[in-house]
Amino acid sequence: MKIEVNISDELEPIETASIDELRALQLERMQWTLQHAYANVPMYRQKFDDAGVHPDDLKSLEDLAKFPFTTKQDLRDNYPFGAFAVPMDEVVRVHASSGTTGKPTVVGYTQQDIDIWAAAMARSIRAAGGRRADIVHVSYGYGLFTGGLGAHYGAERLGCTVIPFGGGQTERQVQLIQDFKPDIIMVTPSYCLAMADEFDRQGIDPAQTSIRLGMFGAEPWTNSMREEIEARFDMDAVDLYGLSEIIGPGVAVECVETKDGPTIWEDYFYPEVVDAEALVPVEGGVEGELVFTSLIKQAMPIIRYRTRDLTRLLPGSARTMRRMSKITGRSDDMMIIRGVNVFPTQIEEQILKVEQLSPHYQLEITREDKLDDLAVRVEVRRRDIDAAAREQLVAELRHYIKTDIGISAHVEVQDPESIPRSMGKAQRVVDKRNL
Ligand code: DLL
Repeated sequence: MKIEVNISDELEPIETASIDELRALQLERMQWTLQHAYANVPMYRQKFDDAGVHPDDLKSLEDLAKFPFTTKQDLRDNYPFGAFAVPMDEVVRVHASSGTTGKPTVVGYTQQDIDIWAAAMARSIRAAGGRRADIVHVSYGYGLFTGGLGAHYGAERLGCTVIPFGGGQTERQVQLIQDFKPDIIMVTPSYCLAMADEFDRQGIDPAQTSIRLGMFGAEPWTNSMREEIEARFDMDAVDLYGLSEIIGPGVAVECVETKDGPTIWEDYFYPEVVDAEALVPVEGGVEGELVFTSLIKQAMPIIRYRTRDLTRLLPGSARTMRRMSKITGRSDDMMIIRGVNVFPTQIEEQILKVEQLSPHYQLEITREDKLDDLAVRVEVRRRDIDAAAREQLVAELRHYIKTDIGISAHVEVQDPESIPRSMGKAQRVVDKRNL
């Protein structure tokens, strides 16, 4: 399927198309994708045959529910290139997600896939409030991770000036932001906070920088974190979502005028939310696991990919296309503390209620006598807060966690800069149960 996209500061016609028009386009593209996957990827042929379905069975978008899911394990089983649907001479790039265990997941792109990705990311920057005249500082890591190059090609595609910094060297990042005066920053929310601290350390108020917009993603973050970042930098902070298996960053983004959860670029990526246990689609507005089917990918079509991300599908607001609510967390990150399900984002919200605590935190789970224990490590914002005041902060945070989440946690209030900083995705949870 050949697709042309022109990007400018104006909206593309599909962004304001009617729902009927959008659904018709999705159906046509979904039929193509299923045929393409079935004909060219043995894994899909096998899975469809085992489930007794054929691409011809897809007569409506609802019929997608008859088709089997794809999981990270399926991709690992086909490591490295077994899920590709085109010969290697048509693949122009690969990326891989590291994953904490086992083999990485490898993804591939044709030139058209790269172009579509750049177009989706350019559209995302524009929806976030970016324009072609803007200078964009990219602090997402470059390399096998899709963050850096995805942001980079999208910004170039829109016509922006890109500063391809990547992660790390925080002191120099701050220096270059001062010198090059970017309008936009793209970075993980956790690393952005580390940068804010570095600005403070250098005696520069981050609110005085040229940056007016930040596009944050690659890890879950709360609206309380958004408020913190917006206040410290005096900028708009929007949520950018994506995953390598689907394409990379630019699958969905918040529109700056509403900031009400990422709008999904549904002409490229078809979303479903399914009950995380029963694995059947839920009604709009009900929380479950986000599942994506690519609609035009050539090198690696993906059918009903289980993202493990928990969210809700919401009707469109700034665009016709549907939104997802801010991600609560990944099902893999869910902690079960004495029978209560807890996500790191819930703890983050409580920490940010306490003014004198900084938003850097780490959670540690241990197990004693078959009972799980949660330690919450946080930092005071200022070193001169004395021991008695710190005791107060411990009590306050414990109280919020107990009343809002319903669990008892050990709270440890530490000195500033004592919790490890991330240069990319933060590691929020240290699980010591199976050591
Ligand atoms: O993290 C792609 C990306 C880069 C997105 C830069 C946004 C910005 P992966 O390394 O494959 O790809 O990790 C994907 O990260 O399934 C989510 O669990 C999480 N994630 C990504 N964006 C968000 C977000 C990139 N905005 C996994 N909010 C996904 C919450 C996010 N979680």
